[in-house]
Amino acid sequence: MSLRRAVMAGLVSAIVVLAPSAAWAASPPTIATATATATDACAVTSAQLSWGFKESFRSYISGSIAHGTWEVQGGATYETPRFGWTGGAGTYSPETSTGSIAFPGGIRFTGHDGLLDTTVQNPTVVFTGPATAQLLIDITGVSMENALAGVNTPVTTLQVPLLDLDFAAAVVETQHSALTVSVVDAPATITAEGFAAFGNYETGTPFDALSLIVSAECPQAAMPAPTPTETAEAPIETDAAAAASAPTPWLPWVIAGGAVVVVGAAAAFAVARRRERKDDSA
Ligand code: HEM
Repeated sequence: MSLRRAVMAGLVSAIVVLAPSAAWAASPPTIATATATATDACAVTSAQLSWGFKESFRSYISGSIAHGTWEVQGGATYETPRFGWTGGAGTYSPETSTGSIAFPGGIRFTGHDGLLDTTVQNPTVVFTGPATAQLLIDITGVSMENALAGVNTPVTTLQVPLLDLDFAAAVVETQHSALTVSVVDAPATITAEGFAAFGNYETGTPFDALSLIVSAECPQAAMPAPTPTETAEAPIETDAAAAASAPTPWLPWVIAGGAVVVVGAAAAFAVARRRERKDDSA
């Protein structure tokens, strides 16, 4: 190999070494960002609630003891054996499994020739975690204890946490920005606050099971991480992936080494050119 060829080879290899680092310098890598976190909840677009209140209470009201009845109001419905509510509004966060959905409408129970006159209305389902929820409701009426004592002034308690709900069987599904939550016949028991407001039923007494269907529209940030088959978008860079793509610590040494090679090769090239000219002129 002639001196000139050797010098040219040195230059080429120096360029090969330096080219990637030059490209890196031209477009520095983006700093790693953590996986997107859910900060916004999904907005409920439709929700339906189906619940019989308490079968034994309905039997008591319509039976031979109370000789009573009930009527639905404010959009609520009744079809034996369940009351129904639609038009629920609220939010739900799939990341924390929390949120609340409020429904308009209620039920007025009457009996005992008007001594019993109790209205439960505006139920709200409050999601308190992945498998738990509560049913809050406005209660207006006279307790049986007061009625039997001759105290007939109705008392209103707003949004009493009436029931603890077991939502272990709740199914949450997402497709793009659409989310649905469905629960069929979730077990329900009365809380201490419910007992205090309604009377008669000790804390922990089972009420009728409750079913719920919710549709919601989510901001993309609130959606759980998509499965690979679901997404057509570029994957979100995780800390681990970003660390892998970050510049390595030995890169500056490679750059410095390459620069030395370039300077050396250029000097050798200049010397070779000078020698060749000398030879040509001799
Ligand atoms: C002075 C009028 C009232 C009388 C004489 C009366 C009488 C009774 C009787 C005898 C029972 C037992 C029924 C059974 O074991 O089968 C009962 C149950 C009950 N009463 Fe009354 N009551 C009166 C007013 C009220 C009022 C104002 C309320 C308020 C909501 C009420 C709520 C209840 C409840 C929740 C039960 C239990 C029903 C069940 O078995 O699930 N009662 N009442």
